[in-house]
Amino acid sequence: MNRKYRKTVIAGNWKMNKTPSETKEFMTEFKSIMPKGRWCDVALCVPAVCIPAAVRAMRETRIGIGAENCNANASGAYTGEIAANMLVDAGCKYVILGHSERRAMGETNEDVNAKVLTALENGLVPIMCVGESLEQREQGITEEWITMQIKLGLAGVPEDKIRKVIIAYEPIWAIGTGLTATPDQAEEVCESIRTVIRKLYGAKIARAISILYGGSMNEKNAYDLLAQPDIDGGLIGGASLDAGKFMDIVNAANQG
Ligand code: 13P
Repeated sequence: MNRKYRKTVIAGNWKMNKTPSETKEFMTEFKSIMPKGRWCDVALCVPAVCIPAAVRAMRETRIGIGAENCNANASGAYTGEIAANMLVDAGCKYVILGHSERRAMGETNEDVNAKVLTALENGLVPIMCVGESLEQREQGITEEWITMQIKLGLAGVPEDKIRKVIIAYEPIWAIGTGLTATPDQAEEVCESIRTVIRKLYGAKIARAISILYGGSMNEKNAYDLLAQPDIDGGLIGGASLDAGKFMDIVNAANQG
C-alpha cells in the first residue's frame, strides 16, 4: 500500500451467494462490529437481487455497495441483463467487470472494455479484473497476457476518467483454491500493471491508481500481501461472506 498517493480499497465479491434475507443479516452483523475511526474504502459487491437490501442497510455508513457485472448497452432487448444506470439508480457505487468467472462464460476483452466505458459514463467505479491461468504462468507469459488485458480493457478510457478505475489482479489459479499468490508474486504483477498504466497515462496517474490483489486472500495472509508497495487492497471472495473475517481483512488494511 502507499496511502500517500492512492486509496486503499477492500472489496468483497459475494459471487452467487446469499439471499436478500441473508444479506440483511450480514449487514446487521457487519455494522455491529464496525470500528468508529478512519477507514480505508470498503466495498461489498453482491448479487443483483441483494443490492436493495445492501444499500438500505448501509445507507448511513461509508461502505459502498456494488454489482458483480453490468451490460454494456444503455437499454433494450437484452433479457436478463442489467444496465449501468439501473445499478446507479439502485444505489450502487461500484461494479466488478471482467471477473475470470465471467470471462470463462465467454466475456472477451472487448466486452470488458465496452462495460468499463459504460460504467464510467454512468458514474460507477469499475473494478476491472485481470489474471492469468496456471498454464500461462507456467509458460512464462503472465506479464504479456495481463498487459494485453489491461490495454484492451482500458482502450478509449480518457485521462479524466482513468483515475476512477480500480484494477484487480486475480490469478485464476489462486481463486477459491486456497493457493494464494505469495506477496512477491502478487507484487511483481501489480508493479507491472502500474508500469503499463504509466506507459499509457503517465507517472502521475499510475501513482494514483489503486491496484488490488484477489485470490484466496484471507484474514491471515492479508497483512503480508497489503504490505507490498503496489498492492493497494484486496478483492475478496470466500472470506467476504463472513462478516467477522471480512472485518479482520479491513482491519489489516487499516493497520498497514
Ligand atoms: P476467493 O477469495 O474466494 O479466492 O475469490 C477471489 C475472487 O474471485 C474475488 O473476485
